[in-house]
Amino acid sequence: MSSAYKLIDHAYDVVVVGAGGAGLRATFGMAGKGLSTACISKVFPTRSHTVAAQGGMSASLGNMGEDNWRWHMYDTVKGSDWLGDQDAIEYMCREAVPAVIELEHYGVPFSRTDEGKIYQRPFGGMSTNYGEGVAQRTCAAADRTGHAILHTLYQQSLKHKAEFFIEYFATDLIMDVGVCRGVLAWDLATGELHRFRAKKVVLATGGYGRAYYSATSAHTCTGDGNAMVTRAGLPLQDMEFVQFHPTGIYGSGCLITEGVRGEGGFLTNSNGERFMERYAPNAKDLASRDVVSRAMTVEINEGRGVGSDGDHINLHLEHLGPEIINERLPGIAESAKIFAGVDVTEEPIPVLPTVHYNMGGIPTNYHGEVVTLKNGNPDTVVPGLMAIGEAACVSVHGANRLGSNSLLDIVVFGRAAALRCAEVIDKDEKHKPLNDSHVEPLLDRFDRIRHANGSISTAELRLKMQKTMQSHAAVFRTGETLQSGVEKMDAIYAEFDDIKTTDRTMQWNTDLVETLELDNLRDCALATMHGANNREESRGGHAREDFSERDDVNWMKHTLAWIDDKGKVSIDYRPVHMNTLTDEVEPFPPKARVY
Ligand code: FUM
Repeated sequence: MSSAYKLIDHAYDVVVVGAGGAGLRATFGMAGKGLSTACISKVFPTRSHTVAAQGGMSASLGNMGEDNWRWHMYDTVKGSDWLGDQDAIEYMCREAVPAVIELEHYGVPFSRTDEGKIYQRPFGGMSTNYGEGVAQRTCAAADRTGHAILHTLYQQSLKHKAEFFIEYFATDLIMDVGVCRGVLAWDLATGELHRFRAKKVVLATGGYGRAYYSATSAHTCTGDGNAMVTRAGLPLQDMEFVQFHPTGIYGSGCLITEGVRGEGGFLTNSNGERFMERYAPNAKDLASRDVVSRAMTVEINEGRGVGSDGDHINLHLEHLGPEIINERLPGIAESAKIFAGVDVTEEPIPVLPTVHYNMGGIPTNYHGEVVTLKNGNPDTVVPGLMAIGEAACVSVHGANRLGSNSLLDIVVFGRAAALRCAEVIDKDEKHKPLNDSHVEPLLDRFDRIRHANGSISTAELRLKMQKTMQSHAAVFRTGETLQSGVEKMDAIYAEFDDIKTTDRTMQWNTDLVETLELDNLRDCALATMHGANNREESRGGHAREDFSERDDVNWMKHTLAWIDDKGKVSIDYRPVHMNTLTDEVEPFPPKARVY
């Protein structure tokens, strides 16, 4: 059957899959180093989900008060609930300052202070002097920072003459005895299939928020790279750690930036009480996201939610006044109007914790090289394969990401991947030959899904998965809800064998796109549910009522999850890197978190 497909061949030094901030920063970095570079993206680059990032990008510039990268590093380690790898965190926080300056020079229109410096706002969990004061560390372009950065990075990619394959859906990695040699992709417009050979494939495919019913993520965030990795027999890391952003708009899940609280906004319950003062007496509304999301959930569960059903919370910014709102928060004022019918200068926004970010993903080192556990070595590099951005688990965010560390992560590790490729790729080296056996199984899978003729539609099965994830792997979890979540997800996984696609064509077949995406999402959802059931402690975004304490003795380790072709999940572990990168900073030993 697969021989029915004619393949169009390409060969590049590097193929980057994904054109969000991480993918674009890597793409033009590689092209700028003289590597032949292709970037494959299923959407037009400036439609990638980075465009939706609002509040900003962290860097200890110290433009609006004293700051330094060690404080940033400490906050990030603490925010990660001591699951972050400290060598990678040091790398990221040190590189943050030059990364922002570089973006400024590329043309990102950051907001300005009166003196003309880059404007920085406070964000949750960002402190001065190791937790003493509040740091203003988040560099902002109003509340459209991702938009500004993404457009600038795309312009740079064009300037460096990277080659783009736009609206191509990358379906699978081409693996050859444990080595990644390229990627198979489907051109959505023409219907042709393309075989890209590459000395390095860089997965920059973003997160998998759409495994849940309510998420701030774009509908394109379907864990495509993560699932390509599991199908290649490699593990995913720490998938149980899913971040709920405290302020998704009630009903639509649309993001309202943490920058609102950074500018002085606050949350209230049905008594009009600023309840965060009880949960986090120091940081209050600017505690880290795991803390705020849990507090909001407790308020609702204990009957202090607002609205006729008492099922959400109010976010106030009326007191900031129209001038500040128009200058610094114009985007969310518009979103609140459209999605909640609220004029933010007069009324609070109804909000609810909403899935926002996946801390887990494809395990990598701080160069962006994919690693796996092999022959007892937890840092074994997988030849030919790299991952960056939300698809990757470096792990700089550990169990919980701090707001504004994501735009930083994508830029720093996109650049790191480019530097690594320039260092290790021999431009003159010939590509190894590929034969049909490398792609036959990939074409068979594609063809099977294209012609699937079962009894359940893609939309029906996706909804089942999303509802199961939303109720069984939520802000609070228990052994009971997780065990039943595992059983339900196992059944949903198996039900994919009974999927029905109706459109058999090859051009703009959105039925097939969505079914391939669902196939990817189910791997991510399965690893998340099994990982959460397996981890018997509470840490960062993983809050278990039956194991309510963090357990550093037994659980300060990364989960690795493999999924076989029958949907069986196997779990093992990698140690957390407690070592720093240089001797210019001491490792931060674990301590109880005080908010
Ligand atoms: O709230 C926000 O603006 C989101 C930022 C982030 O997730 O880093």
